[in-house]
Amino acid sequence: MRAQLERDFERFKRELPRDLPSHVREAYRIDLTARYLGYTLPHPVGKGSGQLSLNLEQLEADRSAGLAFVVLKTVVAEDPAGGRSMAAWAIHETRMRVERHRSAEGREGWTVTWKGRGWDRSFEEYLSLVRTAGELTRSGSIVAVPSVKYHLPRMDEPFREEEYRHTTRRLAEAWGGGTLTLEKDFSPTLAGDALADERTRILRWLREVPGQIRQGAGGAPVRVALKLMNSRHGDPFQVEMLEAAAAADALVVFNRLWSPERAVAFGGYDLSDRNLQVLGAARGRIGNPPLCGTGNVCSGRLLLDYARAGCESVQLHTFFQLPLSEYPATDGSRTQRALHALYFDPAHGVIAGMLELEQSGALERRGGELRFLDLVDRPCE
Ligand SMILES: Cc1cc2nc3c(=O)[nH]c(=O)nc-3n(C[C@H](O)[C@H](O)[C@H](O)COP(=O)(O)O)c2cc1C
Repeated sequence: MRAQLERDFERFKRELPRDLPSHVREAYRIDLTARYLGYTLPHPVGKGSGQLSLNLEQLEADRSAGLAFVVLKTVVAEDPAGGRSMAAWAIHETRMRVERHRSAEGREGWTVTWKGRGWDRSFEEYLSLVRTAGELTRSGSIVAVPSVKYHLPRMDEPFREEEYRHTTRRLAEAWGGGTLTLEKDFSPTLAGDALADERTRILRWLREVPGQIRQGAGGAPVRVALKLMNSRHGDPFQVEMLEAAAAADALVVFNRLWSPERAVAFGGYDLSDRNLQVLGAARGRIGNPPLCGTGNVCSGRLLLDYARAGCESVQLHTFFQLPLSEYPATDGSRTQRALHALYFDPAHGVIAGMLELEQSGALERRGGELRFLDLVDRPCE
């Protein structure tokens, strides 16, 4: 299988197999089946919300590359009069810089520096993207879900229910049938904002937001993932946040770190180190909703680290944005090149990593197959 992996790595540099998960299953007897927000996925790699999921062209490129899911850019919620309590998050900013980033531990990684925030076009335009996302999801070709930033009150304030109701109903209409699935984003800029100074306030949001969204849907079926921020309050509080978010249908863990000095969000190994550390501390302590990992997934190895920390899938942004020279593949879209490296790299890829875990006895074949989800469902060590 090692020799086959070397061969596949070379030959797929030009073009990925048409059906990557089936190829992996036949060639290596590895079942990559994964889960995200109630969907069963053919493999665990999706795209996180951001500047790479703003339009139909990007969605189509990801569908044809064989990505398992995409989260659309975060839209700022509005009420029927167009009022937006989180309007400060709808900033227009086009310039992104992809930069090398050395972590506190001295590891070289990548980060994207950008000062923008949420969706900066009209809600109507966003709804038209959601229409296509709903159709694609129902057709089974790719799961594509919206992401929203809804009102977050101070302790003495109620939630603005009108905003929750109006936004959720319009999204459900545009989605076009079946269960609406969406992410609620708690962003790094929010973590850096005075609104997130108080711990009790954050915990209240996490407890109450899923109910607010469900109530806003007015009985229409909806599944909600909360994408948790990395708060400024340390690891034990981060675990408390996970516990407080128990009413969600899934949790995305955890969005980028916030640098108060530079007033920007950042990632790299600082982010994956922190996320994996917190997930390690939380493991076995809480009956979480299902987890989806995010943060510096830049190799199959890191993907498997997130899986072993309890994540049933992962969502990436930065790794889809590197200079072309950073990918071993020579052709194809960035999404295709990223999938090639994540799965087939003979040293750092998912296949190599799962074969090694088998060899070390950490993962066993069942019915002749190694199963990705067995890494997640394992009792903790
Ligand atoms: C330029 C940029 C814009 C982003 N915008 C959003 C957003 O609107 N909503 C959101 O939930 N996450 C957003 N993210 C976070 C990503 O989806 C992802 O969770 C995060 O960057 C960690 O993954 P990575 O290390 O692979 O980039 C953004 C990230 C970047 C780099």
